[in-house]
Amino acid sequence: MKMKTPASILNILLRGPLLAAGALIAFTPAALACDACNLNFADDVISGQRAETSTGRDLRRAMENQRNLPIEGFSNRALVDAQNAKLDEAGGARPVLASESAETPRGVAGGDTSDTGIKAVRPVSAAPRVRPPEGRPLPDFMEGADFIEILERDYALPTRPYSTVPQDAPVDHKVSIRLHEGKTYIGNGVVYDGFLVDGKIPGPTIIVDEGDVVEFEVVNSGNIPHGASIHSAYTQTSKYVGSIGPRETKSVVFRAMTPGVYMYHCAPGGHAIPMHVLGGQYGMMVVRPAPGSFQLEKELGHEPDLELFLLQHELYASGKQAIEGDADYTMFNGRLFRYVEEPIVTRPGDYVRINFLNVGPNLLSTFHIVGIIWDYIYWQGHPEGMLPGGQTVTAGPSDSFVIEFRMPPDEGAYTMLTHAVGSASRGAIGLLVVDGSAETEPHRKILADGPDFSEAEMRGYLFDAARVISPFGIGTHPVDRPVVFGPESDEVHVSIIGNAFYPKVVQIAPGTKVTWTNEDAFTYLAGEYSGIHNAAAISQPEEDEEGFATPLLAHAESYSHVFEFEGEYDYICTPHPYMKGRIIVKEPDYTLSGGVAATRLGGWVLPLLGLCLVLSTAAFAFRRTKGAE
Ligand code: CU
Ligand code: CU
Repeated sequence: MKMKTPASILNILLRGPLLAAGALIAFTPAALACDACNLNFADDVISGQRAETSTGRDLRRAMENQRNLPIEGFSNRALVDAQNAKLDEAGGARPVLASESAETPRGVAGGDTSDTGIKAVRPVSAAPRVRPPEGRPLPDFMEGADFIEILERDYALPTRPYSTVPQDAPVDHKVSIRLHEGKTYIGNGVVYDGFLVDGKIPGPTIIVDEGDVVEFEVVNSGNIPHGASIHSAYTQTSKYVGSIGPRETKSVVFRAMTPGVYMYHCAPGGHAIPMHVLGGQYGMMVVRPAPGSFQLEKELGHEPDLELFLLQHELYASGKQAIEGDADYTMFNGRLFRYVEEPIVTRPGDYVRINFLNVGPNLLSTFHIVGIIWDYIYWQGHPEGMLPGGQTVTAGPSDSFVIEFRMPPDEGAYTMLTHAVGSASRGAIGLLVVDGSAETEPHRKILADGPDFSEAEMRGYLFDAARVISPFGIGTHPVDRPVVFGPESDEVHVSIIGNAFYPKVVQIAPGTKVTWTNEDAFTYLAGEYSGIHNAAAISQPEEDEEGFATPLLAHAESYSHVFEFEGEYDYICTPHPYMKGRIIVKEPDYTLSGGVAATRLGGWVLPLLGLCLVLSTAAFAFRRTKGAE
């Protein structure tokens, strides 16, 4: 057995805490994982050398500004307390807030922040007391609610009230979603490896009625933090479900007051929110208005013959592409060309209502159906936001419409697509077919849920997949192939961008220096370690006892390591263990500049050329000799 060198022991000592932090995030129950890691994280990130840099100053200022806000669940309270304790220790650095002085009336920032948030009430004069109008009394369960006079005013307004209700209000509708990491099949031979809701992308379609009190439960069955943002709630939800540790379940109760077609999505806080949305965690939630609220329903005197819930979204093969909006695939309801494969059949004259949501997360949709002019569209799905006529609806990420029309009495296929045709050609296209002889069920609903697969089915898809794409890990897309650098490259750069390494796999010659730079800009300290990353080996060649581990890097920070040993290094980001990279260290066969070409030249072409030269010289000499005779 070889003796460990002092350097290798030091390396192991340095790497231990990082790997332990990663293991904590990945494998321990939630409360411990969140509190313990975020505390360690705060120490790592703000103290030491960085404390004296502009990054450190910005991070510290953010912590100071957050210290008394009711942001529990979004930014970790234990983290804030630990920072406050440190500031107190440092002496004098603790800023005095207006709310801490005796003369100032206690406002939001000065209330009791010890448990779920703030109970302090502003002077009553700020909120006029108005009796609720006839027909919209304040429900009994509002009695005793915080800020009751604001809720009274709210119920008296012509516009709809907030969604705020006491968390023990009686519930009309309980929904539950499960968030986790995993794989799904998106059609065309492509398996997607990312983040899922209930085993699929998009997650379940949730339908409630206007006025329903909804209990929205979020189960984290994954190994990393997840959370939820619920667009149909006109109130605080992050505090309740905004950050949920592995194997933890949380819920929020709210009243769905404003009809519309909404998005819900994963939201573990900070940089992790865009990352988990880009990763695939979203779905549609529809708040239905009272029956007869939509114009075509009034005119025809009956419900739609077909109600289609259609969600457009896109998926990415690398973090860099995800950040830049360079989508590999765009689709409706989780599968490429889903309704080309399974056309939706209607009958002549059928009344169709589409609840359309473009999730994005980056691309614009201009939804159109060839051969159809809308009867009525409703902006964001609200019956009062009606427009007649039109060929498209233009929807940016998270925009939505209710669309109403009738199928013409002319049989055939009516193509539905985003008329941003680059996206249509990548999968966001389908067929509505008019067939006079079709027997369709009355009042059919086709939901926006992504396809669901059993474990056995997924094993089958993985076995014969044409391609596996993964924004954060290593799949089989061309972006996952090794980028080869010859020995002339003495330094190679790897970006950390969109919670992923780019390039994900590099091949270098021994002695090459690799420099990682964190290009993720959102480095604030909320949720899933935010956009702060490192690169740490999880496997390495046997001769290399040390491997490598960079420190945690905030935005624009870099770290380099020189690779001396031949072999393969697999590495991860310790705070985000799903981020995967690989360094292949390989001596080229022949050291001419030009990488692979030079290697091939060295291997075959040069000896062959040499042989030709020898043979032709011999032949020439032989002929000269013959000629001279
Ligand atoms: Cu998530
Ligand atoms: Cu990371």
